[in-house]
Amino acid sequence: MPADLSPIDKAKFVAARRACDYVEDGMKLGLGTGSTAAWLVRCLGERVAEGLRITGVPTSTRTAELAREAGIRVTSLDEARWLDLTIDGADEYDGALNLIKGGGGALLQEKIVATASDRMVVIADGSKKVDTLGAFPLPVEVIPFGWQTSKVLLEEALEGLDVMGTDSSLRMNGETPFVTDEGNFILDLHLNRIGNARQLALVLNQIPGVVENGLFIDICDVVITGYGDGRVEVHDINEGRTDEVKYDLTEETNIFSDRD
Ligand code: 5RP
Repeated sequence: MPADLSPIDKAKFVAARRACDYVEDGMKLGLGTGSTAAWLVRCLGERVAEGLRITGVPTSTRTAELAREAGIRVTSLDEARWLDLTIDGADEYDGALNLIKGGGGALLQEKIVATASDRMVVIADGSKKVDTLGAFPLPVEVIPFGWQTSKVLLEEALEGLDVMGTDSSLRMNGETPFVTDEGNFILDLHLNRIGNARQLALVLNQIPGVVENGLFIDICDVVITGYGDGRVEVHDINEGRTDEVKYDLTEETNIFSDRD
């Protein structure tokens, strides 16, 4: 592990490190997008260099590049068809392990890949844990054609729902709209609080022009939360269990050396 990591990077690193324990030889693995998922890809790259055989299905062009650089064999979802496990980050998660994702703009591929997996494990730092989803703006992917109309329709639909805000903004990349890997735009919904995430997810996807929304309901099985002091909490929703381990970040030795 690099010696001079910030507490937030240490938190992401230890969460990714713990998630590697879920990866078995021969697995087909969905690889998430974002800074926490990037730690996972690096950790997996080290394992691959030591002999682990996995095939990764990346959820973005960024992750595909990182994975190839790390020496991980990469394929498409169409080639792999079904995956053993997906490991990804999240922008928020609640006690039922429902998520907001898409802060990095990859929510569409992320949702398809996670849904095509036997199990989804989320890796996060402690700041992502919330009582109620919605402080993080909810990303909604829309097709560019008529996006202004989709925006109005979205805001109108929100009026009748259990949320604490109805404004939305087009995500920008400098002076031009941010464009996803699928060639779409993203509208970020400023809801502040989502009272009924399940209902909201269904309603949003009925609006013409909406491709997908960033609410992941009943998709995630396990959340692994890392902290800057090396603590890691594992919350498994199916087993109804939370476990905790602590990695010694002061050790000079390789953090990977303590595994079985
Ligand atoms: C990308 C995502 C990411 O998983 C999410 O934004 C978390 O990113 P990070 O690990 O950088 O905080 O959904 O679309």
